[in-house]
Parts: sequence; structure tokens; C-alpha cells
Amino acid sequence: MIIPITKPFFDEEELKAAQLPLESGWVVQGKFVKEFEDKFSAFTGARFSIATTSCSTAMHVAVTALDLKPGDEVIVPAFTWVSTANVVEYMHAKPIFCDIDLRTFNIDTSRIEQLITPQTVGIIPVHLFGLCADMGPILEIAKKHKLWVLEDAACGFGASYHGRHAGTFGEMGCFSFHPRKSITTGEGGMITTALPEFDRLSRIFRDHGASRTDFDREFMKSSFLLADFNHLGYNYRLTDIQGALGCAQMKKAEWILAERSRRARVYDETLANVEWVETPVVADGYVHGYQAYVCLFRPEEPILGNVAHMNRKRNELMARLETKGIATRQGTHAPVIQGYYAEKYGLRPEQFPNAYLADRLSLTIPLYVQMTEAEQALVVSELQKTYS
Ligand SMILES: Cc1ncc(COP(=O)(O)O)c(C=O)c1O
Repeated sequence: MIIPITKPFFDEEELKAAQLPLESGWVVQGKFVKEFEDKFSAFTGARFSIATTSCSTAMHVAVTALDLKPGDEVIVPAFTWVSTANVVEYMHAKPIFCDIDLRTFNIDTSRIEQLITPQTVGIIPVHLFGLCADMGPILEIAKKHKLWVLEDAACGFGASYHGRHAGTFGEMGCFSFHPRKSITTGEGGMITTALPEFDRLSRIFRDHGASRTDFDREFMKSSFLLADFNHLGYNYRLTDIQGALGCAQMKKAEWILAERSRRARVYDETLANVEWVETPVVADGYVHGYQAYVCLFRPEEPILGNVAHMNRKRNELMARLETKGIATRQGTHAPVIQGYYAEKYGLRPEQFPNAYLADRLSLTIPLYVQMTEAEQALVVSELQKTYS
């Protein structure tokens, strides 16, 4: 038996949906992308939703709309997927890494203010694995220092903080529909914003800088004339095939999230007495979206002094689970120890102890809607066995 880390959930609805644009002949960004955007806004409560080809390209569009300039500094967590920092680099600005809280894997808000300099223009909090960053203090700091907030909500679908959905707190938010996420369009992303100007600019930047989309032109008089191009844009348009898939996924989004969260609760309960594994913490006021179920492997109190030894043990455990047909992964990585950032900025793991510990000790276990009780029971029993 092979138990994957995750599996997208598709049924007849997706198969039919993908056919519609093929039958119509309009396969690039068109009415299904628009419908997906509308459904996404209705679900999240975002005023505007703008689809793109991925969360990384969504964030690239967002920092362009936010007018990030060379030399500007942006605060990002030190434990996140590398693209959170990459989009800052694309603009020749500088990511300033902030250590995380090891209990939540999210940015440690008590460390943000000390990183602010006259060059700081924004903060990119990440709602990692489906748990919102602590947005209250982040928004307060941003307001006090006149910084923008761009939420990296790649994993944030279905996550909320004090009743509000991820991606609706900052100036802009960005989501991912990669197959590792709860709903997927293959690749895909979404920008959310409440501000009409960022909505307008995002639509322009994702589409080569065009003042009008091909789809709109198609139904206008004089459709033979091209749009005006007054901005430097990109081609980050989602196809209508993906848009149609997104619409089908949105129809079952509530159910997918509920099924994932039901399985997460089974893990919470059955792993509660496994001392060496710390399951995700969900404080009052948070709804976890469970993009992934990421634990901390901690047979001992995690400190830099014992991390190498515990990392070896974690990797041995992951290898053993693999031999049992159970897939696991490290949660995500710490960009600060990746060659590009470590070398360019002379960063060392000791500067970001919690991000480093999370990189070395996080453990994602399988979670997906089709996961049977027997499969989940096997994962649990193997985890219990190994260190009991
Ligand atoms: C926190 C975070 N940000 C950004 C991304 C990038 O998303 P995409 O693959 O859609 O570009 C990911 C992807 O896993 C992520 O986990």
C-alpha cells in the first residue's frame, strides 16, 4: 500500500468542467477564470480576486502593484517556501528574514519591529500550512510604521483568524492552487484585495501590461485593434481550462476542507500521547485550513546543540515510514540556509534558530480526502510503534 502525502480530489465534475472550454474553443483566460474569481471572492469574503498562474506569480504581480523598488526592504519569515523571498529579489529589493515561532511555524511577531529600518516598506506574513499568522500585531506594526502587508496565503485556503478568511487582512493576499493545496487547478494562483486600484493594476500586470483583456476585446466593436500597453507586465494568465477546474473545485471546497479537518482531528487525538511528536497548535480565534498536517519531531527539547542528532533521527524515521509505503515530507524549508540567500546575504542558521529547527525537525504526514480509516490508522500505528 502506498499512502501519498496528499492527493487532489477530482470527480466527474472536474472531468466535465475541463471539457467545457475545449468544446467552446476559448481556452485562455476567459469566462471560467472570471467565474472562478467570483466564486473565490464569495468564499473568502475578498472584495476582488484576480487569478494568476501560481502563487509565486501572484506575489510577483502584487509586489509590482505595491510599487516595490530596488533597495527597499521587506520583512519575510525565515521558514517558508523560497518564493516568498524570491518575489522580493525579483524587484531588486531586499528580503529581511524574521525568525518564526516554533509552535505555529509562523513569523514571530515579537521580532518584527526590531528589523524595521528607514528602507522597510512592507511585511509578507505567511499563513503556513493553513494556520494564519498572528495578524493582529502584524497589522498594528504595519500601521505604526506605515508599511504595507502582503499575505502569502499560498496554504491559507479555508484558514481564518478571528472570523476573517486569510488573504483579507493586508493590502493584498496571494493563494496557490498547486496540487499540494486543498483545492487545485494543476498550477494556479489568486490575488485578493479590497482596494480597487490594486485590483486594476493586478489585472494589468498579469496580462502583459494590457489595458484590456483579449476576452473583453473579443466582444467589443473594433476588436481588431490591440489594447494599450502603458505598464511593463507579464504573462501570468490562468487558462480557462484551469479556471473551469477551479470552479468545479470551489463547488466542493467546503466539503474538502471539512473532510481534511476531520482527519486532522483524528491525528490530533491519536497522536496526543506520542511524546516525541508535537501536533499542530490551533489557538482560540483560529480556524486551521490544514493545507498540510505538519508536526514537530521532538524526542528532546529542540535546541541548536542537538538538532543535528535529532535531524538524523527524524530522517531515519521518514525512511522507515517510506519502507512501509507511507510518504512524509519536511514541512517546508528555511530559505536562509539555501545557497542563494545564505551566500548573497552571509546568513547563518544560528541567526534564525527556530527556522533552522523547523527545517530540520518538521514532519508532514499524509492528509487527503480519499484517505481511508485503515490508511490513517496505519500511519498512526507506525508512528506510535517507532518511538513507543
Ligand atoms: C508559503 C508558500 N508560498 C508560496 C508558494 C508558492 O506557490 P506556487 O507553487 O503556487 O507558486 C508556496 C508553495 O508551496 C508556499 O508554500
